[in-house]
Formats: sequence, structure tokens, C-alpha cells
Amino acid sequence: MSWGAGRLDVARVRGLFPALADGFVHADGPAGALLPENVARAVGHALRMPVANRGGVFPASGRAEALVSGARSAVADLVGGVPGGVVLGPNMTTLTYTLARALAKTWRPGDEIVLSRLDHDANIRPWMQVAEEARVLVRWTEVDIETGELPSWQYDELLTSRTRLVALTAASNAIGTRPDVASIAARAHAAGALVYLDAVHAAPHVFLDQTALRADFVAVSAYKWCGPHVGAVVADPALLAQLWPDKLVPSPDRVPERFETGTPPFELFAGVAAAVDHLAGLCGEAGGSRRERLRASMAAVARYEGELFARLTGALWAMPHVHVLGQPEHSTPTVSFTVSRMRPRQVVAELTRRGICAWDGDYYARELFDALGVNEHGGAVRLGLLHYNTAEEVDHLIDSVAALARVR
Ligand SMILES: Cc1ncc(COP(=O)(O)O)c(C=O)c1O
Repeated sequence: MSWGAGRLDVARVRGLFPALADGFVHADGPAGALLPENVARAVGHALRMPVANRGGVFPASGRAEALVSGARSAVADLVGGVPGGVVLGPNMTTLTYTLARALAKTWRPGDEIVLSRLDHDANIRPWMQVAEEARVLVRWTEVDIETGELPSWQYDELLTSRTRLVALTAASNAIGTRPDVASIAARAHAAGALVYLDAVHAAPHVFLDQTALRADFVAVSAYKWCGPHVGAVVADPALLAQLWPDKLVPSPDRVPERFETGTPPFELFAGVAAAVDHLAGLCGEAGGSRRERLRASMAAVARYEGELFARLTGALWAMPHVHVLGQPEHSTPTVSFTVSRMRPRQVVAELTRRGICAWDGDYYARELFDALGVNEHGGAVRLGLLHYNTAEEVDHLIDSVAALARVR
């Protein structure tokens, strides 16, 4: 069955989300997406099945094994990697600490790393902390305050023969900016550095292709793309094999298990695979591999969200009492703004009264918001769209933000 020429049928999509019955406009997707029924059902099914720990010879243990490989294959399809390079963990932050500690063991005093001021703190602080311990120099790329862009040319000036790592976001969770990852990664590789890409915010909005992006590590978090709370980092298994994380003696030495501590949430892994199936099925059940269907559906998602977002930001920019942070050329449908003479917390309280879920603060984009100078006033207000948001909801968002001019 096909839903027609790569168009997203939002009425059908909304029918997949029982949580939308609460009647709110969920513009808080960047903090975590709602879950479709197939994900909840997959997790529930796994919880009702006999599932034991991995490594046994009886069927319930085989089921645990199957849930792990199902999640690895799904994440590999999402990112364009191989299942044997998918490290699963509780969330992106925890996995980034694991990888940061493992990578730092290969660094020498006087080596350098390059971080970006655009990033979520989870792709900054772990690197800074291990860099300090390893006596490694941290260099920074800055965001253009007016546009919200992260100009790629800065890397030419910051990369040296001592650079070991470039940590970068594929998209800002605060202002949506999508840096030119492929060109930055090419520069990093030319200098001999590895690239650790935070694709947590980008993943529900763009078709990820690890090879085209040239990222050595790609980090994602399933709860941002309609899955459960599970994180993953994807890398070439041969690269993972060169690294040694802290681990227990009896736990497997093989890759990627070597990076996975303790007993994992097998039932949630069923939800990870179901969430990727959900994304791959957004344009109906057209043929092809799951990866091919993801390519088609993420293109339709990008078109659909792009139209809604243009409508939203066009209206916000025209409001005299609203100050939008940045206007990046390439972005996800995520925008942050402040409202004159209102604290962000007051704004979101007012929006909540109008049935809108919106986030306020710095959403852990601490360096960015410090650079933009908004943290001393309580940060900003964020509206983020996902494939289940509608044009009517966007109109309600616009009307509600416009009405704030009268609330003050
Ligand atoms: C861009 C980005 N990176 C990293 C994270 C951290 O992910 P996790 O919650 O899986 O640790 C978030 C969470 O909001 C995020 O938006």
C-alpha cells in the first residue's frame, strides 16, 4: 500500500499516537517525542514474553539475543552504519562519557580537541572533563550570534596535527542550526582527527547517512524519534576494536558489547526497532529495504516539517514583541525566542494555559545560550515541530505567541 508520491498523511500519522488524545499541542518534541502505538505494543509484547538474560542455551535467552540484534539492525538502518558497530546504552550522555573516557586513553598531553559552542552540553562537558585529566587542549568554534550559524571555515584555523577529536552536533537542539558536517569532518580527517557527531536532535528530522557525513561516531537517542529511552553510538567496528572502555572482567571483550555495561533493558530494545519501523513506514508500506523506506519517509518528513516551520517562523519574525534567536539557513523545525518584558517561564506558563507544551530555559545548550547572552534572563522559549504536528496547531502556536503582546 502506498500513501502517494512521498506525501505525509498527517491525519493517518496522528491516528498512530494514542498520547495525542490529551488534546495538547506538543511543541516539545526536541525534549522527547510522543510514542506511537506500535512502539508501546512492541515493548508490552516483549514484557509479556519469556525473556531471560543473554548467553544461555534455552529459548528465553535466545529471545533476549534477538531483541539486542533487532535494535542494533534498526539503529544501523537509521544511521547508515553496520549492526556490529552499534553500541547500545541508557542514553546519549552516558554513552558519550564511556566513549570519551575510552578515547582519552589514546591521547597524550599536549594533544588537542575541538568543541563547538553550538552543541548540547552532552557533547561538550564529557570531552572537557576527560581533556582536563589527560592534559589535552580544548579549542572552540563559535556561533555567529546574528545568524545562529557555525561557520565551517573556523576549523581551518583550529585544526592542527595535534588535533585528536572534533565533537560536533548535526543539529542544534536549541535553535535548529544544521552545520555543514561533511565538510567539517573532511577537514578534521585531513588533520588526522576523529569526528564524534551528536545526531540526537537531527535524527527525527533528516535522513542520516554516516558515510556521507563522514562521522566516525554518530550518537542518537531513541526517545527523540518516537522510541523508548535508549541511546546508541554507531561506529565502524574496526575503530571500536581499537578502544578499551572501563569494563568488568567477565563481561564480553568483543565489540560492540565491550562498551555496554551491565544488563540492558531488553524490552525497550523491542521498542527501538519498532520506532525505526514507525519512521520507515511514515509514507505507507512502499517496497524496498527498511533503509530505502527510511530515505523516502525522512524526505517526506523534511518537506512536511519544513512547510510548517516556514509558516511558524515567518509569523514569529513579524511579531514586534518576539525576538527569535538566529536564522540559520539550514535547520531543523526548532526555534527559540524571547518575548519582551516576559520571563521565558512566564511565557511557557501562558502557553500551557492555551494547551501548548513548550520548553523554557537553556535545554542544556548552556554554552550557546551563554554566548547569546540569554541565560541571565532565564534562557528562552523553544517550539519544536515533529511529523505529528499540523498546520492548525501551528496556527494556534502563532495566535498564542501573538496574544502574549496583550498579556504583559
Ligand atoms: C542535541 C542533544 N544532544 C544530546 C542530548 C542528550 O541526550 P540523552 O538525553 O540521550 O542523554 C540531547 C537531549 O536533549 C540533545 O537534544
